[in-house]
Amino acid sequence: MTRLSVNLNKVALIRNSRGENLPDLVQVVKDCESFGAQGITLHPRPDERHARYSDIPQLREIVTTEFNIEGNPNPRFLELVLNNPPHQCTLVPDDPDALTSSEGWNTIKYHDFLTETIAKLKEKGIRVSIFLDPEERFVEGAKKVGADRIEFYTGHFAKEFKTNPENAVRSHSVAAKLANELGLGVNAGHDLNLENLKFYKDHVEGLLEVSIGHALISDALYYGLENTIQMYLSKLK
Ligand code: PXP
Repeated sequence: MTRLSVNLNKVALIRNSRGENLPDLVQVVKDCESFGAQGITLHPRPDERHARYSDIPQLREIVTTEFNIEGNPNPRFLELVLNNPPHQCTLVPDDPDALTSSEGWNTIKYHDFLTETIAKLKEKGIRVSIFLDPEERFVEGAKKVGADRIEFYTGHFAKEFKTNPENAVRSHSVAAKLANELGLGVNAGHDLNLENLKFYKDHVEGLLEVSIGHALISDALYYGLENTIQMYLSKLK
């Protein structure tokens, strides 16, 4: 089974644009879960332009499915996650002012930092996933630093999918096979949408979770949130 975790950053972005609490993230979490989402993801960035650090404790109290907090493990992020342990923390090497995440960890170069950071999180009982490009050397490195899971960056896949889907997914299939052999769980995210999701799932063995935000929230403008979540779930069956 591949779980659908809904990334609520775009909802937070709309909320922040008016300085009040509309839409209310707490209500949106409850609704996403009642519409069938199997997880909720938040990705606070240092400038808090969408998810805010203060959203974390509040949402942690009310998520009943799986709460995944993503982000660059700077001291502030780590303190927040350790004080409000989610089910899963996904470590992402994004620059503070990055528009969006665009590459995974070099697990060889950052071996010591990742080993130390992952150990701290696991001590609190948090499952740790690390964001990766689908390269076998980085998957092997992820095993060495003690990650429980990896999340493949699917941005390049999504771009190439439009012209050459088989080629686009090849490195993901190979890297996922290796991850499965090494006992690492496989998640994926970035630019997944209603067109490419089923193809991706069908070619990536043992895909445990996808986290989807931008396309899903955009689709919800047309289909409504409940229908949209059901449409994404049907691609994952
Ligand atoms: N995974 C990670 C690590 C991300 O940074 C993002 C974007 O915040 C996503 C998944 C979701 O990507 P998208 O919004 O394109 O669905």
